[in-house]
Amino acid sequence: MTQKITVAVLGTGVMGAAMARNLLKAGHHVTVWNRTRARAEPLVADGARIAEDPADAVRDADAVLTMMLDGPAVLEAVRSAAPQLRPGAVWVQSSTVGPEGLAPLAALATEAGVHLVDAPVLGTRAPAEQGQLQVLAAGPREARPVAELVFDAIGQRTVWLGDDPAEAAASRLKLVVNSWVLSIINGTAEALALARGLGVDPGEFLGLLEGGSLDSPYLRMKAKAVLAEDWTASFPLSGAAKDARLIAGAAERCGVRLDVAEASARRFARAVEQGHGDKDAVATYLASFDD
Ligand SMILES: NC(=O)c1ccc[n+]([C@@H]2O[C@H](COP(=O)([O-])OP(=O)(O)OC[C@H]3O[C@@H](n4cnc5c(N)ncnc54)[C@H](OP(=O)(O)O)[C@@H]3O)[C@@H](O)[C@H]2O)c1
Repeated sequence: MTQKITVAVLGTGVMGAAMARNLLKAGHHVTVWNRTRARAEPLVADGARIAEDPADAVRDADAVLTMMLDGPAVLEAVRSAAPQLRPGAVWVQSSTVGPEGLAPLAALATEAGVHLVDAPVLGTRAPAEQGQLQVLAAGPREARPVAELVFDAIGQRTVWLGDDPAEAAASRLKLVVNSWVLSIINGTAEALALARGLGVDPGEFLGLLEGGSLDSPYLRMKAKAVLAEDWTASFPLSGAAKDARLIAGAAERCGVRLDVAEASARRFARAVEQGHGDKDAVATYLASFDD
C-alpha cells in the first residue's frame, strides 16, 4: 500500500486545484490555501481542508506544493508560513518562476530548514485534471521519496535533473520548453488573425497542414478554441505573459538575443492591458484586432 502523507497546496488556480484533487484521490491528506478563498472552497467537497493562511496550511505538512502565479507570490506566501514549516519537510515548487525567481526561494528553503525540490510541470488544464503532468525535478536525494509520492499523484512521468535545486536545472529547461509553447500559441493566433484579415478560410489553412510535418496537436487544439471563440483558460494568458517576460529576461541575462520572445512579451502584455488576462493564452488572437 502506498504511504499516505499530509500535503499543503498553496495556490488553487487552474493547475493547483487539479493537483490538489489528484493528491486527494491518491488518499493523501490535503490542506489548501488560496489568496482568494472562494477559489479553494470547491475542494472541500473532494475532502480538502481549507486553511486561513499559508502558515495554517503548512503546519504538520510532510510536503508543501506551491502552484501560484510567479516567484514573488510564492516567496511572500512561503516566507509568511516559514515559522510553521516542519523541519525537514519537502517543498515541491511547481509554479513557473524561472531561474531568477528560484534563487530567493532556494535561500528561503535553506533558512527555513526544509528540502526544496525545483519541480516545474509540463501540461495544461486537462493533463493536470487527469494526473498526467510531466514533472521536471531537481532536489536532494533525501527529499525524493516524499516528492515522488506527490509526483505519482499529479503526473505520469518525472524527469530528475539534479540534486541541487539552486542550480535551477528544472526551471531552466522549463523556460526552454515554454519558449516553444508560446511560439506555437502566438503562431496559431497570428496565422488565424491574418487569415481573418485576408479573407482566407481558416479551414483551408488547417486542412493544408493536416497530417504533414507542419501539423501539431497543440496547433489544432488552440485553433479549435479560437474558431469556436472559446476562451476558457487552460493556460491563462496572464501566466503566459509572465512566462514571456521570464524568457525574454533570462535570454538577456545569458547574452542571447531573442527578438521573437521580446515581441511575444509585448503582445501578451498588450492583451493583458486589454482585459484578456483571465482568458486562455490563445486569446492573444484578440490583440490583433482590439485597440
Ligand atoms: N495553466 C497551465 O497550462 C500551466 C502549465 C504549467 C505551469 N503553469 C504554472 O503554474 C502556475 C499556476 O498557473 P495556473 O495556470 O494555475 O494559473 P491561475 O489559474 O491563474 O492561478 C494562479 C494562482 O496564483 C495565485 N496568485 C496570483 N498572484 C498571487 C499573489 N500575489 N499572491 C498569492 N497568490 C497569487 C492565484 O490566486 P487568486 O485565485 O487569488 O488569484 C491562483 O491561485 C503558474 O506559475 C503557471 O505559469 C501553468
